[in-house]
Amino acid sequence: MTDGNRPREIYYHLNILANMKRQVFSVGCIMFFLLSVDSAWAQPATAVQQGLAVPQGMAVQPATAAPQGSLIREEGAIRQRLSLDKGWLFHLGDIPFAVPMTHDQTYNDSKAGNASGAAAVGYNDKDWEAVMLPHDWSAGLGFDSTLNVSEGYRHRGIGWYRRTFRLDPAEKGKHLELQFDGIATYSTIWVNGTLVHRNWCGYTSSYIDITQLAKYGDRPNVVAVRVDASAHEGWWYEGAGIYRHVWLVKRSPVHIITDGVYANPVRQPDGSWIIPAEVTLENSGKQPGTVQVEVGLYDSKGKLIDKGMASANVPALHQAGANVGLLVARPELWMLERPTLYTVRAVVRQNDSTVDEEAVRCGFRTIRFSADSGFFLNDRHVKLKGVCNHQDHAGVGVAVPDALWEFRLRKLKEMGVNAYRCAHNPPAAEFLQACDSLGILVMDENRNFNTSPEYIRQLQWMVRRDRNHPSVILWSVFNEEPMQGTENGYEMVRYMSARVKDLDTTRPVTAAQSGGQLEPVNVSQAVDVVGFNYQQYSYDEFHQRNPTMKMTSSEDVSGLMERGVYVTDKNTHLIDAYDLQAPDWGSTHRKTWKMIDERPFVAGCFIWTGFDYHGEPTPYTWPSASSFFGCMDLCGFPKTAFWLHEAQWRDDIDVLHLVPDWNWPADSIGKKIRVMALSNADSVKLVLNGKIISGRKVDKYEMNTWFVPYAPGRLEAIGYKKGKIVSRYKTETTGEPVTLELVADRDALKNDGWDAMPVTVQVLDSKGRPVPTANIRIKFEVSGGGRIIGLGNGDPNSHEPEKGDTRSLFNGLAQVIVQSKEGETSPLVLTAIAPGLKPATITIPVRSVPAAPFVK
Ligand code: GAL
Repeated sequence: MTDGNRPREIYYHLNILANMKRQVFSVGCIMFFLLSVDSAWAQPATAVQQGLAVPQGMAVQPATAAPQGSLIREEGAIRQRLSLDKGWLFHLGDIPFAVPMTHDQTYNDSKAGNASGAAAVGYNDKDWEAVMLPHDWSAGLGFDSTLNVSEGYRHRGIGWYRRTFRLDPAEKGKHLELQFDGIATYSTIWVNGTLVHRNWCGYTSSYIDITQLAKYGDRPNVVAVRVDASAHEGWWYEGAGIYRHVWLVKRSPVHIITDGVYANPVRQPDGSWIIPAEVTLENSGKQPGTVQVEVGLYDSKGKLIDKGMASANVPALHQAGANVGLLVARPELWMLERPTLYTVRAVVRQNDSTVDEEAVRCGFRTIRFSADSGFFLNDRHVKLKGVCNHQDHAGVGVAVPDALWEFRLRKLKEMGVNAYRCAHNPPAAEFLQACDSLGILVMDENRNFNTSPEYIRQLQWMVRRDRNHPSVILWSVFNEEPMQGTENGYEMVRYMSARVKDLDTTRPVTAAQSGGQLEPVNVSQAVDVVGFNYQQYSYDEFHQRNPTMKMTSSEDVSGLMERGVYVTDKNTHLIDAYDLQAPDWGSTHRKTWKMIDERPFVAGCFIWTGFDYHGEPTPYTWPSASSFFGCMDLCGFPKTAFWLHEAQWRDDIDVLHLVPDWNWPADSIGKKIRVMALSNADSVKLVLNGKIISGRKVDKYEMNTWFVPYAPGRLEAIGYKKGKIVSRYKTETTGEPVTLELVADRDALKNDGWDAMPVTVQVLDSKGRPVPTANIRIKFEVSGGGRIIGLGNGDPNSHEPEKGDTRSLFNGLAQVIVQSKEGETSPLVLTAIAPGLKPATITIPVRSVPAAPFVK
């Protein structure tokens, strides 16, 4: 569809909008028919449940996440988006419904409001456990060899959640919506004894209009959620429970629907820009509403750049749209190095008062894929240096605090990564906001390859939620599907692609194909950018046969290594970190990058994976429980692949790193040790205990390897560019551990009860050097304004609990994740203790921030 970022359809659309510019025009339901590009088959379940007479071709949209913490939270005084993360009660295990036996029981049981068992309003949940969301119960349970290997041998099963809240009678008449950002995996939701929603996907949100069911005053509202996490949708650790945020949104009867502001800037042929803003309104009131919608564009300093106005008639219990074109001559571009974000604010006025208001972020950038020369951002060539990742982290499973997304993305940027594939499902909204802010390109991926109405609804949910994000450059409709080389597969992708384009024509559609590209009919013929998972041997043939087709690697490498391990031992499931090991469908990091970098027609790479993840411990099974694929381990501690790519991908800093560390057992003395230098210098000189081993020109793909007879002491590398020393690195044989050390990731926590950060744990010798081989068990004590929410050490073979207060170092490192306590102002004090070692204590200041609005 696209030739770069300027498909013909869009030009046409934009011309219309440009002509409308600054004219006030009425847009009612009928107008909306013309403007809406949704199609009849996208008729959403939510709209039907809401009992709304949704105009044909109109889909109900999901929420823009209002993120926690430092991420944007912009809402008008009228609309309230309240966190519903606090105050839940949880029961592990199912509570089966009693089977009604008498006619009366059966009759009553069939009625709205009369749900029985744990879904009943009056169910006695007093003994349930109090939990705060996000919550992944699987992360707190142990490992069991009889369980599923792909899930990391973790318990999942079924669990129940309940939450009660009251509404002020003064709020009667407001539109009320419950939003569940993500529940793993199948969920059934009741409100006040009525079943209101079922979601059969662990990666999509549920938006539930509860206006009609709400109770006010003394009568509490009861939300009950049954989560069936025994179902699996993937072949990796998927967690269990309400693992993303939950919100209660209160809006005026005439309001902007969830994710109802579409504002994606598009460059026009003359180089100026337009935002063809679309605002979707809904009226849950009793009277029709005539409203004025003012849409303003604000720069990063809050200065108004342009605004426009439209009016709309929104009949009671219907939806309507309002369109405003915003023009900008020369905006600051969204670039990887400087990802400037603008804000589009839509304000809805009725009878001279503001009834709703919503702000979304957007960025001005063009994207283009070329069949000859890859990807262009703002007309500048950018080789995609991407990683694929699942969505879990050490200690917390999939219930990843927002701040940890920022941490993980920061680590990836440090490695030189500029692109991220959300494998194999849509991410948390807060994650995408962090990508926008940090300048990381995203391949946003759909989970289920399925063209039935329910799954198309989920696909469209993803596009609708995420289409304002400048970071998103590709929609991926699947990963590795058996039908990919068949006509059925082709037809499915053709259909799914059309449904994506109902909502966004500015980004290409791709599919992560692990085969079939050379079949006579296959899905590559139905996408805009052909995705190759592995199959590097086919790149050239495919390109020769299809010289006009755009391509990218969508997944590659699957290299295997363990942090700090330098001797492979199949018996103990140890895999060396010399970039020598990969399964037969993959290849080493070095070979893979060479093949991609040398082919301009391949837009870039997406390494499997940036971080290790729980589950899929290929090539091993029990007792291995998490993956070996990451450039970083489960905690985000770098492995060799991290420094390798940092050397290959970063030209803004001088990179030089040596592996292995220089703590080898006494019987290694005199034996040859493989030594690798990872560097972006022209040449590197290796020096052992003051004696030059050799100097070598750096091979930017293979890097440099020496075999050095081991002698304890100091191994040094010196990097040269144009004959001058630009970098130095040393690794020394350390003494025994003497003291513990704790290093906080950031200098303070916010006291909102959500903010979290990882703390690195290591041990030092008497000279203050970290001991890279230490595997000591450490106990932690925490006091003051925070708590420990998870522990990890990156060992894929470890079965130590990820919750609690004790964790061993793995090859010198462990991680404690701490979280603030709401409203506390005393600093968080964390102490690490191990027998025979000097303890370490750090004090993390806790800063007061205004309390995030939440449901009491
Ligand atoms: C790919 C698959 C990934 C992961 C990987 C491991 O084929 O897309 O999800 O399983 O293999 O190498």
